[in-house]
Amino acid sequence: MLMTKHLKPFTKWVGGKRQLLPELLKVLPPSFGDYYEPFVGGGALFFELAPKQAVINDNNKELILAYQVIESDVESLIDELKKHKKNDSREYYLDLRSADRDGRIEKMSNVERAGRILYMLRVNFNGLYRVNSKNQFNVPYGKYKNPRIFDEENLRNISCYLNENDISILHGDFETATKNAKQGDLVYFDPPYVPLSPTESFTGYTADGFGYDEQVRLRDLFVKLTDRGVYVIVSNSSSELVYDLYKPVAKTIVEVGATRMINSDAQKRGKVNELLIVNF
Ligand SMILES: C[S@@+](CC[C@H](N)C(=O)[O-])C[C@H]1O[C@@H](n2cnc3c(N)ncnc32)[C@H](O)[C@@H]1O
Repeated sequence: MLMTKHLKPFTKWVGGKRQLLPELLKVLPPSFGDYYEPFVGGGALFFELAPKQAVINDNNKELILAYQVIESDVESLIDELKKHKKNDSREYYLDLRSADRDGRIEKMSNVERAGRILYMLRVNFNGLYRVNSKNQFNVPYGKYKNPRIFDEENLRNISCYLNENDISILHGDFETATKNAKQGDLVYFDPPYVPLSPTESFTGYTADGFGYDEQVRLRDLFVKLTDRGVYVIVSNSSSELVYDLYKPVAKTIVEVGATRMINSDAQKRGKVNELLIVNF
């Protein structure tokens, strides 16, 4: 049997969990059945664990398309990324970005769409995924000197891994993604965080947003999965609201420090506490 090579996320993703990995690894149960990650994003923990049986999900269509294309046609995707790398410039980026404004995106193949989003996230401002209310991508071009547009070897390793193991890649809601989770399985939820300061708008990464009601729905799902004997870990900010939601239902709440670089206000960057909420 082939050993899986060490895998890394293939894209930048806001809220990426690479810095939190050591803490996450400490709280994992010693063994578990299938692995579920319903808000997979860049998949830092998923790729670190590289489980043999897993369900990954996100409600971001372009992102999930990228996972699917890496699985089904990684060589064409690499060719597409090579093309973008060769042509990379602000004008080129802005033209490709506007494909979701003039209908071109509808005529693109899945490989072209995946190549577009992966290229854009490497060269744009802070690797942000942000769309307006019409679902049009609106992040400006970044100021990197020599952005690394893709890592060919990592993409091929991920493709092998996805093909050689039993990994379901879903595009949908977090609750639906866990419907088959059973006793002894592990679910890691990394939702859009509750903002720490009440002045920040309480919305999510996509046009849908992820507000208070969604946080409550996630907490209720935490309780349901606990009743079914599923191991559950949730990460979230250390806001009062998160404590209020989980204190009555969690077995353990671990406070961890994490450096957030996403805030454009330098004053607000730095150490903030995040929580790992665990039911075992
Ligand atoms: C904090 S990020 C996850 C980051 C990820 N752990 C990583 O390492 O990159 C949250 C993710 O939840 C997704 N999301 C938001 N609302 C969702 C929903 N209702 N169902 C599923 N995914 C959702 C977003 O698209 C985003 O990718």
